Amino acid sequence: MDKETGAALAEIVDPAESPRPVFDEPLSVSIASLLEEWRNADDLRLAGLRPAMSTMIFGPPGTGKTMLAHFIAAQVGLPVVVAKLDGLISSFLGTTARNIANLFTFADRYRCVLLLDEFDAVAKLRDDPHELGEIKRVVNTLLQCVDARAGVGFTIAITNHEALLDPAVWRRFDIRIEVPNPGIEVRQEILTQRLATVFNEPVRFRFLAWLMEGASGSDIEKLTDFLRRQIAIRKDSFDFLQSLRSYVQLSAQQDAGERRQLVTGAPEELVRALFNDKATPFNQEQLAALFGKTQPTISRWVKRG
Ligand SMILES: Nc1ncnc2c1ncn2[C@@H]1O[C@H](COP(=O)(O)OP(=O)(O)OP(=O)(O)O)[C@@H](O)[C@H]1O
Ligand SMILES: [Mg+2]
Repeated sequence: MDKETGAALAEIVDPAESPRPVFDEPLSVSIASLLEEWRNADDLRLAGLRPAMSTMIFGPPGTGKTMLAHFIAAQVGLPVVVAKLDGLISSFLGTTARNIANLFTFADRYRCVLLLDEFDAVAKLRDDPHELGEIKRVVNTLLQCVDARAGVGFTIAITNHEALLDPAVWRRFDIRIEVPNPGIEVRQEILTQRLATVFNEPVRFRFLAWLMEGASGSDIEKLTDFLRRQIAIRKDSFDFLQSLRSYVQLSAQQDAGERRQLVTGAPEELVRALFNDKATPFNQEQLAALFGKTQPTISRWVKRG
């Protein structure tokens, strides 16, 4: 706890039920090798080798970074001590370094994974010119604590503003994992996981994966939740494309993907975009099924473009 405000500095989470996030192949392979190392950390030490003990996870918002951290902890069978750095940096800046030291002292006492979420809060402090000396002290405390913890337990830090981080902080982490927005295969997998109980037309999953280009896993979650609610409300009168149009309109400001904007226009345009897509082309039969039209109609739409 922060002594002045009484606010909790950390929360202990049992990650037993952590679902597995879905990632593109190269990333899941590197995560598997990190897990291998962490599961065998004691053996590595016995062999006189120093296992990688700290990991920095970075990438854009909503890509599954927090989910990944909990999953890693579950896989190595340890509870997680979660500290939100923005909460730790108290309004009385003078107590921040002490809060950080106390947090590490607490975490170092148990076998656990220390998770420092929203790690960039420390870096953002630098914008305040009045606090330069104090910030140096906070950063130094953090570095010392991360170093000292290397002999004791695992540390995971998460940020989505890696460019803001001090190079010295950055270097302190043995492993750096970038979690980008998902590619089309992963988007399709997340969509299928979340919608398999309500749809069974494969072309819909393929189409939604195409549509959600540039979106994060969290954006996909919002879309699938919306569709499930629509299905629950409308039942037999559920209209797939109409619901997508509503979704795009209702999330217009946040989610202005080019492909998503096509949904709100004439269906002919959308059909042509799908038919002519270089990377993920849709054939006329798939388009007929997707749009509930006959193949001659689709064929006419395609030719007109
Ligand atoms: N790769 C993924 N696989 C499966 N689900 C995902 C994935 N990425 C995001 N999600 C979904 O989005 C939700 C939010 O993910 P999470 O909180 O882990 O993102 P984050 O990267 O930590 O975001 P932020 O940067 O905003 O903290 C998850 O609960 C999950 O349902
Ligand atoms: Mg997060």
